[in-house]
Amino acid sequence: MAAITLKVNGTTHTIELEHDRVRLAEILREQLGLTGTKVGCGVGKCGSCTVLVNGEPVTSCTLLARKADGAEILTIEGMADGAVLHPIQEAFLDAGAVQCGFCTPGLILRTYSLLRAHPTADDGQIVEMLRHHLCRCTGYEAILAAVKLSRERMQSA
Ligand code: FES
Ligand code: FES
Repeated sequence: MAAITLKVNGTTHTIELEHDRVRLAEILREQLGLTGTKVGCGVGKCGSCTVLVNGEPVTSCTLLARKADGAEILTIEGMADGAVLHPIQEAFLDAGAVQCGFCTPGLILRTYSLLRAHPTADDGQIVEMLRHHLCRCTGYEAILAAVKLSRERMQSA
């Protein structure tokens, strides 16, 4: 049985894989207890399971864990600084973009990835980003407002 190494939110883990088809989302949720990563569709369509792998947004429900061997992973649990929320988390709350919250971790991580690479991302880039995420609750106006507010706050942080 193969073992892989993952650095998740700054901590290195060695993980035995039960079989070679185990997905990254299963490892994060079931072995590491990081249940902030949500699994909705399970087939790479809704974006709720998005985490950052070596800084890039990835649907963890489709990524084979063995393909992430050696990678650095950021999950929603790694965004806050202790009890202090990340400015993007604050922005989502302040913009009313969180209802059931199922889509929120993935959205926050993809927003972080976008704004880190493109701090002045224009509205078109934000809309394009949102194409990767489904939300059943809020409608997208509040989410769009949250990402714009995140852009503003990240620039002044
Ligand atoms: S649960 Fe992974 S994309 Fe929907
Ligand atoms: S807040 Fe419920 S799915 Fe988006």
